[in-house]
Amino acid sequence: MLLSAQAYQKIDRELAKFPADQRQSAIMAALAIAQEEKGWLAPEVLEDVANYIGVPPIAVQEVATFYNMFDTRPVGKHKIAVCTNLPCALRDGEKAGDYLKRKLGVDYRETTPDGLFTLVEGECMGACGDSPVLIVNNKHMCVRMTEEKLDALVQGLKAQSQGESA
Ligand code: FES
Repeated sequence: MLLSAQAYQKIDRELAKFPADQRQSAIMAALAIAQEEKGWLAPEVLEDVANYIGVPPIAVQEVATFYNMFDTRPVGKHKIAVCTNLPCALRDGEKAGDYLKRKLGVDYRETTPDGLFTLVEGECMGACGDSPVLIVNNKHMCVRMTEEKLDALVQGLKAQSQGESA
């Protein structure tokens, strides 16, 4: 058992939404719960989730590697996914990504040396008209990200982390 009792309780609530022979339907929700707690999905966590749900490990592995919101490698405390799909790329999405690369001193799929930020390329988030679009920690969508707004975002996340570690 690698997760907390609360995490397994949450997974139980997800499992309760599906008939007994449809337990694999809870894989996505269970992975999200596990990732929220662990920060990323290590192989042993995937196996634990599979065992807990009662599905073959490969079924969990497939879901974890298919959706880019799941991290099967370690990431920084904050993951910033910049949408670089075509509609956004044509409307300053690439520019926003380049700005963040310079600002954070990392390339896509890299983490800052202090472990605070991982920058990745995201897929369309359905807000193409509001490019540049990015999503922070798979949850918080930010739109129309000018350089000023990117500065404020990074600053805010840094301050939040300092507050937590103080
Ligand atoms: S292409 Fe970026 S949100 Fe749709």
